[in-house]
Amino acid sequence: MNPGDAMVNVNATVVLDNVVAVNWAPFRTLPPGSRTPPMRSARTRQGVLDRLSLVAFAELQAKEGFLWAIQNLKDASDGLRIAWGTLAQEEEKHLNWLLSRIRSLEGDPSERPFPLDLWESFTRCRSAEEFCRFMARAEDRGRVGREKLALILAETDVISAELFGLIAREEQAHIQLTEQFFSTAAHSDS
Ligand SMILES: [Fe+2]
Ligand SMILES: [Fe+2]
Repeated sequence: MNPGDAMVNVNATVVLDNVVAVNWAPFRTLPPGSRTPPMRSARTRQGVLDRLSLVAFAELQAKEGFLWAIQNLKDASDGLRIAWGTLAQEEEKHLNWLLSRIRSLEGDPSERPFPLDLWESFTRCRSAEEFCRFMARAEDRGRVGREKLALILAETDVISAELFGLIAREEQAHIQLTEQFFSTAAHSDS
């Protein structure tokens, strides 16, 4: 798999009268209050696809979160908005790497529905600093999760394991970029 094989992203965010409608395709979202189906074993192809899809959907929520913040958090400086724009592009790159891997395994990213928990948390933020704090924690949790997946899959799916490892390293740079604006963002209330 070549991470440089970018795929066309069909997602688009539409803002109508302050109501944000995001097209979450090619994923399916869980209705509010529904339980997330359990993941299948990471030793199986289906289980690997479950994890690739889960992380890909988190990348999409992060991308949309940054775009939402640019539009809605008016106290953000121009420099911070530019950084968010860069990070949105980076999350889209990760999303496309993961979708490419899912398709090379002949998987379907819409097979399992996922909750919109990240997105709902991002859009509850009311200031640039609150968003940066929350996003930095989410990015760090994601980085740790991707590192664990890289270890779990190292013997069963080397390509996916390397992909998770690469994304984890890049997430570290995302955290450092937002920390430049609020230096205690990642640690102040953890
Ligand atoms: Fe990412
Ligand atoms: Fe990130």
